[in-house]
Amino acid sequence: MSNQVSVLFVCLGNICRSPTADGIFRYLVEEAGLSDKIRIDSAGTGEWHVGKAPDERMQAAALARGYDLSGLTARQLQPEDLDAFDYVLVMDKQNQADVEDLVSELEQMDKIRLLLSFNPSAITEVPDPYYGGESGFQQVIDLVESACKRLLVQLRKSHDL
Ligand code: 4NP
Repeated sequence: MSNQVSVLFVCLGNICRSPTADGIFRYLVEEAGLSDKIRIDSAGTGEWHVGKAPDERMQAAALARGYDLSGLTARQLQPEDLDAFDYVLVMDKQNQADVEDLVSELEQMDKIRLLLSFNPSAITEVPDPYYGGESGFQQVIDLVESACKRLLVQLRKSHDL
């Protein structure tokens, strides 16, 4: 492990949930003055939206809460990502299964975790907001924001940051 800790957020399209996690966690890490210590990225298991900016509904909901996602661009998860990142944090169990399909070495399995496992709440998955209404985007932010705050506390503890 390099002296930089690296975190990759993964969802299906990389236009709603994982860019939100990327943007929120980036904000929290910058606020903590740890941008040079923690590397952050996001990716999708699917390829349909590669090259696109985050979904406009997701961007608007995030911006209203103070998180600017406009600089992010969707990309597809690659098998090499499982070597390049220390933490691969997925939004739901389907993402988890899809990422696990790319695993080539057993130790890569240990990097893969549901993002919401950092939350004490009973909700274990970030619901896909793509085909739903406005409240789905708010829920993504609520769940992801809470988990990202706890993730940062955990990383600071585990890596002495
Ligand atoms: P995401 O949401 O996985 O949170 O980026 C989705 C975006 C697009 C699609 C599904 C989910 N889609 O089917 O195109």
